[in-house]
Amino acid sequence: MNIFGRKLRLSIFGESHGAGLGIIVDGVPSGMPLSTSDFTADLSRRRPGAPGTTARREGDAVTILSGVYNGFSTGAPIALLFSNDNARPSDYDKFAEHPRPGHSDYSSREKFGNFADLRGGGHHSGRVTIGIVAAGVIAKKMLGQITISAKILEIGGKNPWDSALEEAGKRGDSLGGIIECRVTQVPAGLGEPFFDSVESQISHLIFSIPGVRGVEFGDGFASARMYGSQHNDPIADSSGRTSKNGAGGVNGGISNGNDIVFRVAVKPTSSIAAPQETYNFSTKKVERLVVSGRHDTCFALRLPVVIEAATAIALANF
Ligand SMILES: Cc1cc2nc3c(=O)[nH]c(=O)nc-3n(C[C@H](O)[C@H](O)[C@H](O)COP(=O)(O)O)c2cc1C
Repeated sequence: MNIFGRKLRLSIFGESHGAGLGIIVDGVPSGMPLSTSDFTADLSRRRPGAPGTTARREGDAVTILSGVYNGFSTGAPIALLFSNDNARPSDYDKFAEHPRPGHSDYSSREKFGNFADLRGGGHHSGRVTIGIVAAGVIAKKMLGQITISAKILEIGGKNPWDSALEEAGKRGDSLGGIIECRVTQVPAGLGEPFFDSVESQISHLIFSIPGVRGVEFGDGFASARMYGSQHNDPIADSSGRTSKNGAGGVNGGISNGNDIVFRVAVKPTSSIAAPQETYNFSTKKVERLVVSGRHDTCFALRLPVVIEAATAIALANF
């Protein structure tokens, strides 16, 4: 099952090398202006093209199949569809028997058997995040004054990262990165104390993005090494503004009215050109695998807009 949300309910579908992919967004109030041009800016931020990203080129044009009439949402489910026009499935034939280390080839086949579509990572592909970005465009509109912006802090531990990226690419290797997301003008009071805490709902969606390895709010893991006097956020005035933000804008699972701030650790791409020694299920031996196909050297470069979208969807659910 691939469903998220209660008030704004999403159902994501599609595979990297199937006919197409997309998302169904249910719970959007009627009367919200919406047209295909609203999606252009965010979709272009997710598209590859920059150094260190895949050579695969897709048009990424959105088709609004339902839920919009005369330029406004009708209140019915909004179905958004994208086609795959530049797939090259033969690149992936061998990975069923000789699975890529770090990718989903093995775990997907264990779960779904020989029915799994492993082409380009199938339903696990980063391409499926196009639906998250599209739903995020709608969620951002629903949030009104709240603004969400994510930026890359470092790639491969470096900022600037151009030469590290080039060097890794030349060696047929890959890099990860850290992205910070900041949500401003958040009202105090969003979220619930336990299962639907602001952090757990945002993290649920952030960890749904393939390749995410960590999320930390405010001081995050560093808080474990602080004194309470260092980590606490003194309240500075009657609006609840704090003089620092070690909590990342959330206390007791509930937004406290300060910026929500969190960082996301993104792993290095697992499909690397450099040879790797890994088990081959047809020969029953550990053998050398050289991964072909078109891959991002560093897909963290494409993730800020995906992280913004995931955050918007989580907040729209509150
Ligand atoms: C936008 C985006 C692009 C990605 N591009 C690639 C890629 O080119 N090659 C690759 O091996 N993995 C890529 N990934 C990561 C894989 O989808 C992911 O590693 C895989 O599904 C296994 O999931 P896991 O890393 O969470 O275990 C990408 C992820 C995203 C979000």
